[in-house]
Amino acid sequence: MDFDRYDRIRPIRWMGDHLLLLDQRRLPFVVEDVRCDDSDAVAAAIHALVVRGAPAIGISAAWGAVLAARGVQAADGAEALAALGPALDRLNAARPTAVNLMWALARVRRALAAAGADWRAVLEAEALAIATEDLAANRRMGELGAALIAPGSGVLTHCNTGSLATAGFGTALGVIRAGVAAGRIDRVYASETRPWLQGARLTAWELLQDGIPATLIADGASAHLMKGGAVQWLIVGADRICANGDVANKIGTYAHAIAARHHGVKVMVVAPSSTVDMATARGEDIEIEMRDPAELLSVAGTRTVAEGVQAWNPVFDVTPAALVDAIVTEKGVVVHPDAAAMAACFGAV
Ligand code: MRU
Repeated sequence: MDFDRYDRIRPIRWMGDHLLLLDQRRLPFVVEDVRCDDSDAVAAAIHALVVRGAPAIGISAAWGAVLAARGVQAADGAEALAALGPALDRLNAARPTAVNLMWALARVRRALAAAGADWRAVLEAEALAIATEDLAANRRMGELGAALIAPGSGVLTHCNTGSLATAGFGTALGVIRAGVAAGRIDRVYASETRPWLQGARLTAWELLQDGIPATLIADGASAHLMKGGAVQWLIVGADRICANGDVANKIGTYAHAIAARHHGVKVMVVAPSSTVDMATARGEDIEIEMRDPAELLSVAGTRTVAEGVQAWNPVFDVTPAALVDAIVTEKGVVVHPDAAAMAACFGAV
């Protein structure tokens, strides 16, 4: 397919001596970058959701490591790694659920440990490789996922899994882009994704940039939509996929998946292998990020809930593998995921 026709947004731009992150807190009405000159600024940006989406935070953290190295003098990679340790630990702790963050930093650590006097160039090359490989994986997953969709289908997606959440093209949204381009998808629905509105603010905006018609729904409307027969696939991304195929993703995914199973709608999870965590056996073992209850008590900065009301704000949930029909990665498609099917694709730990 003509990938460039469908993919113009780049949320992370390395400028040689600083990092520019498209500020996703302000989209769609303000399109502005946040400039990061050191690794702590990158960690703060990840925590504050300036940049978000599992692959995007991993890529940003890798560039954060490059920024952290600017003040370090070391004879080889091992010495540099020792000096960088605290900065890498702070990046690693910026958010807990998406394993791509820890995966990218582990990759950076491994590259440094093996590097000699040219460790600085090795580190920068590793960060670039993490970003480049992510874009290639997304394009491959787009083709693999679109091939599963029958012509004339309708799809529902949740949260934002597009160019904004990755190096480009997107995971679940990449499959939707490829499916539309291939003439297989006729209808695209995006759920708004309370409370941070990734679906309403980001996915709807991205699809508009591509000229792909999409219809926004309230999160609570998905079961009703499915009952009417308008969608054949729920297509979502992931923040961590366990060894048994359980999938952590944006809060609300689990409810959509339950509704999908009830109504005979198939569930496709699209994620690069950097999101697969074979060291975590099952969904119950994943740390679910809890964010400030204030995110639920206001809309666009205006308080909507009476003073004194409490809120509970987990921002991810776990969809059990049994509710997932296919996990699409760049390494292949795992149909009806379970521990055996996952091990066959990704190897046992
Ligand atoms: O809190 P966010 O916006 O970082 O959550 C993002 C999601 O849950 C995405 O679905 C997931 O990271 C996959 S992005 C390709």
